[in-house]
Amino acid sequence: MYLTEKILKENPNICEDMASSFDARQDIAIMEVPKLGKEAAIKAIKEWGQPKSKITHLIFCTSSGMEMPGADYRLTKLLGLGSNVKRYMIYQQGCFAGGIGLRLAKDLAENNKGARVLMVCSEIKVLTFRGPSETNLDNLVGQALFGDGAAAVIIGSDPIMQGVDKEKPLFELAWTTQTILPDSERAIEANFYEVGMIFHISKDVPKHISNNIENVLIEAFKPLGISDYNSIFWITHPAGPAILDEVETKLGLKPEKMEVSRYVLSEFGNMSSPSVLFILDQMRKKSKEDALTTTGEGLEWGVLFGFGPGITVETVVLRSVAI
Ligand SMILES: CC(C)(COP(=O)(O)OP(=O)(O)OC[C@H]1O[C@@H](n2cnc3c(N)ncnc32)[C@H](O)[C@@H]1OP(=O)(O)O)[C@@H](O)C(=O)NCCC(=O)NCCS
Repeated sequence: MYLTEKILKENPNICEDMASSFDARQDIAIMEVPKLGKEAAIKAIKEWGQPKSKITHLIFCTSSGMEMPGADYRLTKLLGLGSNVKRYMIYQQGCFAGGIGLRLAKDLAENNKGARVLMVCSEIKVLTFRGPSETNLDNLVGQALFGDGAAAVIIGSDPIMQGVDKEKPLFELAWTTQTILPDSERAIEANFYEVGMIFHISKDVPKHISNNIENVLIEAFKPLGISDYNSIFWITHPAGPAILDEVETKLGLKPEKMEVSRYVLSEFGNMSSPSVLFILDQMRKKSKEDALTTTGEGLEWGVLFGFGPGITVETVVLRSVAI
């Protein structure tokens, strides 16, 4: 947990169930969220192996606090990026923001020759963390599941495959879409109050997702002639174990399809926007360890699902392009 004992002791109202604490939460979030994002960005740039001056666009996703000019602006300064980097700030989209970032990065990369987009997701649950209450079940569900984390990735088109500038693409973003699930209004929602962010998570969330996911898969994979969803790799936002269980059962997926998502959930919790990038990272590393032929568990095609407020589903069709 990024929220240390020291921070909590200095801000006792954060540990109450419903004490006025918004200012303290905000003050922490606006400083710490970009700093955590910086750690992830430095690792991504190092592995990419290119000078940061080649970054043309920055996408920053967070639902942890908000300000102007924004976490993207702070990160630009913290990383020492050029003042002409074109910034996009994705605030308050919840757990599916990682999917939005990938969709936007794909559009930017494909429509701006030579673009290299740095996408960063950083979340600290300082706006939602609070003491327990026997009557606030939403809060208990959230505290049980949520975690802090940051992840970053570089996205571009036409990778340089030779010479000193050589790049090593891992996954192709083949197709993206966003879907609002029918009759799911108010199933996941959140608002800001003096006591911080208060969220509602309906107990029907797993049903809403599992009942509708096949339609999204048909739209995504019919053009590729794929209808066996055990033949693709799965990057499923680990919103909660019940969601992974119900999707697996409804689609008759083999247990290994959710294995990496379950691993990330058990090790790090539901970190909101960075979760899908953690799963991608873990999958490509595990595929290499297991000497498989692609970054996607030896398979060519895969799906990435982000779930969040609405309920909204972000879908990315992935193609594994390397090992
Ligand atoms: C919360 C969760 C981890 C609990 O898992 P579990 O310990 O295996 O327990 P269960 O799923 O059987 O649920 C235990 C009880 O909590 C209730 N419950 C589950 N989710 C709830 C919610 N969001 N609000 C209120 N009650 C809830 C269940 O109805 C059940 O009640 P019962 O004992 O009276 O039947 C699991 O239900 C889950 O993953 N839910 C989905 C979480 C989600 O929607 N995440 C999105 C986050 S944005």
